[in-house]
Amino acid sequence: MSTEIGSRRSVVVAVTGASGAIYATRTMAALLERGWHLELVVSDYGRRLLRDELGDAASIDKLADYLADKYGPAVRSGTFTLHSNRDLGARIASGSQNCEAMVVVPCSMKSLAGIALGLSRNLVERAADVMLKERRRLIIVPRETPMSLPQLRNMVLCAEAGAMILPAMPAFYQMPQTLDDLADFMAGKILSALGVPHELYPSWKG
Ligand SMILES: Cc1cc2nc3c(=O)[nH]c(=O)nc-3n(C[C@H](O)[C@H](O)[C@H](O)COP(=O)(O)O)c2cc1C
Repeated sequence: MSTEIGSRRSVVVAVTGASGAIYATRTMAALLERGWHLELVVSDYGRRLLRDELGDAASIDKLADYLADKYGPAVRSGTFTLHSNRDLGARIASGSQNCEAMVVVPCSMKSLAGIALGLSRNLVERAADVMLKERRRLIIVPRETPMSLPQLRNMVLCAEAGAMILPAMPAFYQMPQTLDDLADFMAGKILSALGVPHELYPSWKG
């Protein structure tokens, strides 16, 4: 995957330390296959989750090869830039950047709280804050169970500020056979929320 951006459609993808690393990799692969540019930021616990849940091959320094091996060479049609979560001077920390949307997948309750309160303590929170202030699409994929009242309230705060809350809740009507089928469903929901056509799961026929 090259680092050239050009006129590609770009989106910020943030990976934080909630369970569900496979949702992140499937979403990244689906966007890359379609030629998108990803501005990628992964929190420290997001990095740990990639390794813990998907193995050492999915660690952040090997991500491009991992995605190509697991999802096929078409992912190399897209590009990505990896930012440090500590770099509040990165281009996605500014409203002048050209990303049309941001997805936080999966989103921990800690990052959810930081976004809900506009804390901007790190690049994930700052980039999300930029999306809200610029009235651009922010898709938050929270994962926790059960949820406390503060966590539920933080989701309401984000929704009131204009974010879409898209919980990591795969459906079963499409008769999933594998974990990848479940990940396809969640990635498909995220692509739909971005307005990107896909066939990641069969549409409901009624
Ligand atoms: C293996 C593992 C699984 C975790 N799963 C979740 C989870 O599903 N949801 C959540 O909100 N936090 C979860 N956590 C806790 C967060 O990673 C922790 O609160 C962390 O500080 C989040 O920081 P971040 O949002 O900067 O990634 C998990 C932690 C570990 C180590």
